[in-house]
Amino acid sequence: MKVVIPAAGQGVRFLPVTKSMPKEMLPVVDRPVIQYVVEEAAAAGADDVLIVTGRTKRAIEDHFDTSPELSHLAGVPALEALEALAGRVRLHYIRQRAPLGLADAVAYAERHVGPEPFGVLLGDTIHRCEPPLLEQLRARFEELGGRSSVLAIETVPDEKLGDYGIVDGPEVRPGVVEVQRLVEKPTPSEAPSRLGITGAYYLTPGIFDAIRATPPGRDGQVQLTDALGRLARTEKVYGVTFRGTRYDIGDRFLWLRANVELGVRDSEVGDRLRVYLERRET
Ligand code: G1P
Repeated sequence: MKVVIPAAGQGVRFLPVTKSMPKEMLPVVDRPVIQYVVEEAAAAGADDVLIVTGRTKRAIEDHFDTSPELSHLAGVPALEALEALAGRVRLHYIRQRAPLGLADAVAYAERHVGPEPFGVLLGDTIHRCEPPLLEQLRARFEELGGRSSVLAIETVPDEKLGDYGIVDGPEVRPGVVEVQRLVEKPTPSEAPSRLGITGAYYLTPGIFDAIRATPPGRDGQVQLTDALGRLARTEKVYGVTFRGTRYDIGDRFLWLRANVELGVRDSEVGDRLRVYLERRET
């Protein structure tokens, strides 16, 4: 399976950190977010991952390269795990030439993925799922006939509607919505439902024609949500709920929360962090 990871967003909400550093390299507990995302792709069976980068994103490529200056540390578990990961998946990089939106970034993958369906995982969202989320999405894709794009969705609180693509349509089987309406980052009154796109997709190559036909939308950018709306006119598109947890690290609070939630589960610092948090509460 090929997986595309768009990682070209500017990270405005993390300035000044992201002035010279990719937001995808922000650490969550012990490793950068992008490493979690590549791990999720590998866990779902991806053997080929294309990361769409852009200006100020070179650290992502360096992260997955072998590092001669650290060769004396070969065998250190943290580095060994990363080496093993980079050995399991073939990583490719392509640069988005200008920040023209998520759909534009995905369009850069067209030649690379060819005529097969492919996975998309956003470079700033961690999904911890069992089975791995893309495996769940691909299973749904097969179950629904093997010709329709599938998006991961979850219910979002009212105050977060404006942060996500929101979908709506009839529930055609438990946990599966046939998507008929999509709105990118609606106000609560514009929102067709409370079902938000979490940032994981299993798409047919039909998405590329749909992206080409999609004019710039919100923020003057070509939105993947709008392209999916267009795709839904010619092919079925399904939103599916999944087993597992999504950690959006798109803003400072969510990033801090992901560190706490994943931190308390960490084998090295989890116990101390839990004790610290309990003491703070009293
Ligand atoms: C993007 C998508 C949005 C989706 C979200 C998930 O927005 O445009 O539809 O719900 O990711 O995190 P962004 O977070 O890049 O603003």
